[in-house]
Amino acid sequence: MPSITDPMTIRGLTLRNRIWIAPMCMYSVDALDGVPTAWHRVHYGALASGGTGLLVVEASAVVPEGRISRQDTGIWSDEQRDAWRPIVDFAHERGAAIGIQLAHAGAKSSTRPAFGPDAGSGSLAIADGGWQTVSSSAGSVMGLADARALSVDEARDVVDAFVAGAVRAADAGFDLVEVHGAHGYLLHQFLSPLWNTRDDELGGDLDGRATLLLEVVRAIRAALPTMPIVVRLSATDWTEGGLTADDAATISTWAQEAGADLVDASSGGLVRAAIPVGPGYQAHLAQHIAAAAVPASAVGLIETGEQAQAIVDSGVDAVRVARAALRDPHLPIRWARELGVEVDWAPAQYARAY
Ligand SMILES: Cc1cc2nc3c(=O)[nH]c(=O)nc-3n(C[C@H](O)[C@H](O)[C@H](O)COP(=O)(O)O)c2cc1C
Repeated sequence: MPSITDPMTIRGLTLRNRIWIAPMCMYSVDALDGVPTAWHRVHYGALASGGTGLLVVEASAVVPEGRISRQDTGIWSDEQRDAWRPIVDFAHERGAAIGIQLAHAGAKSSTRPAFGPDAGSGSLAIADGGWQTVSSSAGSVMGLADARALSVDEARDVVDAFVAGAVRAADAGFDLVEVHGAHGYLLHQFLSPLWNTRDDELGGDLDGRATLLLEVVRAIRAALPTMPIVVRLSATDWTEGGLTADDAATISTWAQEAGADLVDASSGGLVRAAIPVGPGYQAHLAQHIAAAAVPASAVGLIETGEQAQAIVDSGVDAVRVARAALRDPHLPIRWARELGVEVDWAPAQYARAY
């Protein structure tokens, strides 16, 4: 079994270790144009300096109406691409691979973030700058404003937008793209039987519900043959009648056939559910995907190096951390030291601290 401090190669991209930073929305684009700011340069610069093998930047919308909030970053314009470039270059200078999460929030778009000028909860009203949301099926997800159902043609436009976002990401120098298929956002709204009630080719059985996600993966693969692709899934809805770990393993196998290289196993986000939150509470979902011979990463309350190593020992390829890395951007270096492994991931400027 590899150590979490060992490198890993995905489609020709070598990552210096298996301790990765999961995407985290910063809701910090005050200009509302999706263009990353000084905050993003400093925040991602610190994370890239902390030793991670793979930093994936926050859910970045492939179309303006796919933003969770007006303050989200985007990858639908060339101006956004150009503003991501220095962030990418700095990560490379620090030895970190860097990816971007391509996202469309669907019925969970046009919401109020927890802080800033739109602070609040629930939907941002159209009168306040919000917009009509779209989904696989019409109605309200999680008590938010009613979405309208996309036509098949409109859904295919979404596929094109994901591809355009991926191509822009490649042009910005990103090493990898991640397709956001989790947390109750648009692609999950298509995947889950709890929400997708369509009777056309984009609904019905698991095969039909997975069509849109797989078309996104296939189309990105066709446009970018050498670009590593991660798919993030909510690998269970934690609800009777919803997606199960077995469904997630099946979707992962199909995604791999469509050109994906690794699946990250998150969970939930579409309906309110009793989630047994605790240390490593989603790791079994990644194990289930890895057992289906699809490279997988685990995420969710992985907070010590020992715990991370035990998860990799169980057959999962890598771990991703989110909140613990906000508290300590240098967590990968700290974990390596705690495990007694000498690493050269710290910036030379910080050598005297070690
Ligand atoms: C501030 C914050 C923002 C987040 N934004 C995203 C996001 O943009 N995309 C995503 O897939 N998950 C997002 N998440 C979920 C994390 O990627 C991660 O799956 C979750 O926090 C569990 O990992 P942790 O216990 O290590 O924090 C976010 C989490 C936090 C705390």
